[in-house]
Amino acid sequence: MEALLCSTTLQLKSLYHRHHRSLSSPFSPSTHTVTTHRKLRKSSCQKVQPSLFVPLRVSANSQAAPASTEASTSSSVPSTMKAWVYGDYGGVDVLKFESSVSVPEVKDDQVLIKVAAAALNPVDFKRRLGKFKATDSPLPTVPGYDVAGVVVKVGSQVKGLKEGDEVYGDIHEKALDGPKQSGSLAEYTAVEEKLLALKPKSLDFAQAAGLPLAIETAYEGLEKSGFSAGKSILVLGGAGGVGSLVVQLAKHVFAASRVAATSSTGKLELLKSLGADLAIDYTKENFEDLPEKFDVVYDTVGQCDRAVKAVKEGGSVVVLTGAVTPPGFRFVVTSNGSVLTKLNPYLESGKVKPVVDSKGPFPFSKVVEAFSYLETNRATGKVVISPIP
Ligand SMILES: NC(=O)c1ccc[n+]([C@@H]2O[C@H](COP(=O)([O-])OP(=O)(O)OC[C@H]3O[C@@H](n4cnc5c(N)ncnc54)[C@H](OP(=O)(O)O)[C@@H]3O)[C@@H](O)[C@H]2O)c1
Repeated sequence: MEALLCSTTLQLKSLYHRHHRSLSSPFSPSTHTVTTHRKLRKSSCQKVQPSLFVPLRVSANSQAAPASTEASTSSSVPSTMKAWVYGDYGGVDVLKFESSVSVPEVKDDQVLIKVAAAALNPVDFKRRLGKFKATDSPLPTVPGYDVAGVVVKVGSQVKGLKEGDEVYGDIHEKALDGPKQSGSLAEYTAVEEKLLALKPKSLDFAQAAGLPLAIETAYEGLEKSGFSAGKSILVLGGAGGVGSLVVQLAKHVFAASRVAATSSTGKLELLKSLGADLAIDYTKENFEDLPEKFDVVYDTVGQCDRAVKAVKEGGSVVVLTGAVTPPGFRFVVTSNGSVLTKLNPYLESGKVKPVVDSKGPFPFSKVVEAFSYLETNRATGKVVISPIP
């Protein structure tokens, strides 16, 4: 065992020194720690992200080392934190739980959030798989777009938030274009004030964490399609993270005349409870064969070629993923705290409800399981990570 640890330590040390000069990383090398026997042994046979590690005494207990339980005020924010990290693109096995990652610096327009809950989105695993390499930030990455938590530090230009505020938001302004290296699957995350809103008081952190990216996408797509009161809509994938919110926003915020949505058999009742007038079982019916046509078809599944057959002449087809067939149009969500603020009254009153998948919330230690579940493409509503830690 000693020999194994020793050789691993040397390997890490040399890797660290080799890469440290060239890597610009938010993960402070001075605080990187390899703290468990298990982790060290793993790192001897897997590709190690050197900037995350400093060879250390291996008897230390990683759970006890970081100051993760310190009070949530700026004076007691620790310099390192626990976080999920990947240093290579790939499957769920690239995700590593690290005990000593640098807490991100707070820019003038940002606040530091003590993360209480986070949520996963398909963009998290698509990004991890390297699908957006060309526009991604450099590795290593702490994944996670959605966050809910408490402000513990404010930048000098922050006007509307203060320490102690309970907030939520999607921390990456442009989902695919230069998302931050340090995401929300961590004890702390730094976020621009404009991307956040005060958390609705009626929601707990886990419920709030599941909303930002999905509800902002739902809202932006409806707006871009020109959706308005009295119009009809068909939502493809009505039980998913985005779809479950498109159904609710269309019905309860935009005052749709009629909402139809697709799902598999077991989720039809959910669609109705969210406000769908017509729940279509896609395992039994082809929505494009229905005589009824819609002002807007909102495709969250990647079925644009079929979606265009279900829209009225002159209507709109919103596309989130997959190939686009005219007149369909695709957009990529822009994070925007003012959308959350605008929708907060509907969330406070319960007219619009977060849908948290009942397999979760997954504790912080089970992020790999949560990703694996999301990647089945069968999640109902949102896959939430809570509590952290
Ligand atoms: N462009 C953007 O800005 C943007 C923003 C957000 C999301 N997206 C993309 O939009 C897609 C959906 O995101 P999401 O967060 O809603 O995903 P999600 O929650 O993981 O979607 C899972 C849901 O999709 C449903 N589904 C799967 N195949 C279906 C089918 N053939 N017909 C109807 N429903 C089906 C599943 O229901 P069943 O179990 O009943 O099949 C499940 O409930 C992803 O590809 C994501 O990357 C894009």
